[in-house]
Amino acid sequence: MNVTNICCIGAGYVGGPTMAVIALKCPQIKVTVVDVNQQRIDAWNSADLDQLPIYEPGLKEVVEEARGRNLFFSTNVDKAIDEAQMIFMAVNTPTKSYGEGKGFAADLTFVEKCARQIAEVSNTDKIVIEKSTLPVRTAEKIKEVLSSNTKGVNFEVLSNPEFLAEGTAIQDLFKSDRVLVGGDNTESGNAAVAALVSIYSNWIPQEKILTTNVWSSELSKLASNAMLAQRISSINSLSALCEETGADIEEVSKAIGMDSRIGSKFLKASVGFGGSCFQKDILNLVYLCRHYGLDEVAEYWYQVIKINNYQKNRFAKKIITGLNGTVNQKKVTLLGWAFKKDTNDSRESAAIYVADILLEEGAELHIYDPMVKATRIHQDLTTLWEARNESKDEIAYKLKRCIVHQNHTTALDSSFAAAIVTEWDEFKSYDWNTIADNMMQPAKVFDGRNIVKDTEEYKFKLKKVGSSNVKNSSNERKEKAI
Ligand code: UDX
Ligand code: ADP
Repeated sequence: MNVTNICCIGAGYVGGPTMAVIALKCPQIKVTVVDVNQQRIDAWNSADLDQLPIYEPGLKEVVEEARGRNLFFSTNVDKAIDEAQMIFMAVNTPTKSYGEGKGFAADLTFVEKCARQIAEVSNTDKIVIEKSTLPVRTAEKIKEVLSSNTKGVNFEVLSNPEFLAEGTAIQDLFKSDRVLVGGDNTESGNAAVAALVSIYSNWIPQEKILTTNVWSSELSKLASNAMLAQRISSINSLSALCEETGADIEEVSKAIGMDSRIGSKFLKASVGFGGSCFQKDILNLVYLCRHYGLDEVAEYWYQVIKINNYQKNRFAKKIITGLNGTVNQKKVTLLGWAFKKDTNDSRESAAIYVADILLEEGAELHIYDPMVKATRIHQDLTTLWEARNESKDEIAYKLKRCIVHQNHTTALDSSFAAAIVTEWDEFKSYDWNTIADNMMQPAKVFDGRNIVKDTEEYKFKLKKVGSSNVKNSSNERKEKAI
C-alpha cells in the first residue's frame, strides 16, 4: 500500500513529536494530528513557536519546517480518521485510579473511545497502530472494538511502541536504536507491517527496523522500560549503602559501567526516577504477571517501584534531618520540578513526592523550574492530595505555603536549604558560594542529581546522593564540605 495520508489521535508528548518527525522526513505524506483538547491544538498551531504545548529541544525547528506543508493539527477527529489510510493511536493510558486493577492496570478508557470512533467513522480500510504503551494483548481488544464497524471495512492492527525519551525526543526519533513493528503473520497483516516499515525506511536504516508478532512488540515496550528503571533502582539502592559505608556511588557506578557487559548508561544515582512511563509500565507488568498467576515474577518487578519510593522518601528525610530534624516554618527551596532536564513534563516527578513530605512537615516551600509553570506545579500537588481525599481547606492551606518563582535568586534568598531535584544545566553554572551567602546560615545544599562539583571549597554544606557521611582517609576531602 502506498500511504499518502496519516492521522494521529492524541497530540501529546508522544503523538506531537513523533508525527512532526514523520512529516519532516516524509514530505510526500499528509500527516494530521488530532486531539479533543482545543487548547492543546491551538497551542500546536500557535504562530509563536515558543508557545508549543511541549518543550522539547529541536521540536520547534521541525514544526516550523513541516507545519502547514504536510503537518497539520486539528480538533476535527472524524475528518482526519476518514481521510487517513493509517491511524496512529497516541492517547494517554494512565494507571487506573478506580475499580478492578486500581493502582496497577493501565486505564484503557481513552484507547477504547478512540477505537470506537475509528470503527464508527471509517468508510475505507485502515491500518490502526498502537503507539501508546499498552498492556500485552490490547491489540486483540482493539480489534474486537473495531469489528463493530458495519461498512465492511478491514482493519489491521499493528503495535509500534514509542521508545523516545523526553528531553531528547527529536534526536531519538531521528536516530532510533531500533523501530519495532508488531503485526499479524497473515497476508494482510504482513502487508500492513510492510506499509509502516516503508514509512520509517525514509530515514531509519533497514537493519534497525525489527518486525515481530504483536504481543512480542507490546511486551518488549513494557520490558524495556522495566529493565531501564531496574538499573536506576539498583544503583539507587546501592547509593544508600554507599552513604553508610564510605564508598562513593559515582565511583562505584563508573567501575560497574566499565564492564562492557553491563554498560555505563542509566546508572546515575538520583532522587528517584519519574516520568509518565517507568512507574506506569512496571505497574502494568506487575498486574499482568499477577493476572497470569506469576506472583513471584510480579513481586520481582514490584521491588523496582518500592526502591524508587524509598529513594524519594530518603531524600526528603535527609533534608529534614539535615535541618536539625525539623523544617517546620523554615523556607526550603526546591530547584527543579520536571522529572528530568529539557522537558516541561512533570508527570510522576520525584519533586512532587519530595514537596509533599516537606509540606507535610510544615516547610515553606519555594520552587523554581526553568520550564514548568506554576499552575502545573500546583495542579500536580492538588491531584496527589485529592487522590488521598484531603479536604479542600487542607489543600488550599498547603498550596499557600508552596510559592513558585520565576528565577532562582528570589527562590533561594534567605532559604535554609536548597534541594536539587532536576538536573537542569543552568543549576550547574550557578555561583553557589554567592547563593550560599544569601541563604540562612549554615547554608545547606542537598543535591539529588549530583551535579554540583565537589572539587571546590564551599561556604555551604553539600550533601550528595550516595556520598558517605563516614569519616575515613579516602573521603576526607568531601567530608570537609559537609
Ligand atoms: C523512558 C524511556 O527511556 C523511553 O525509551 C520510553 O519511550 C519512555 O520512558 P523518559 O521517561 O522520557 O523515557 O525518560 P528517561 O530518560 O528514561 O528518564 C526517566 C527517569 O529516570 C527520569 O526521572 C530520569 O531523571 C531518571 N534517570 C535516568 C535516573 O535517575 N538515572 C539515570 O541514570 C537515568
Ligand atoms: P502521551 O505522553 O502518551 O503522549 P499525553 O497526555 O501527553 O500522553 O497526550 C495524550 C493526548 O491524547 C491528550 O492531549 C488527550 O487530550 C488526547 N486524547 C485522549 N483521548 C482522545 C480521543 N478519544 N480523541 C482525541 N484525542 C484524545
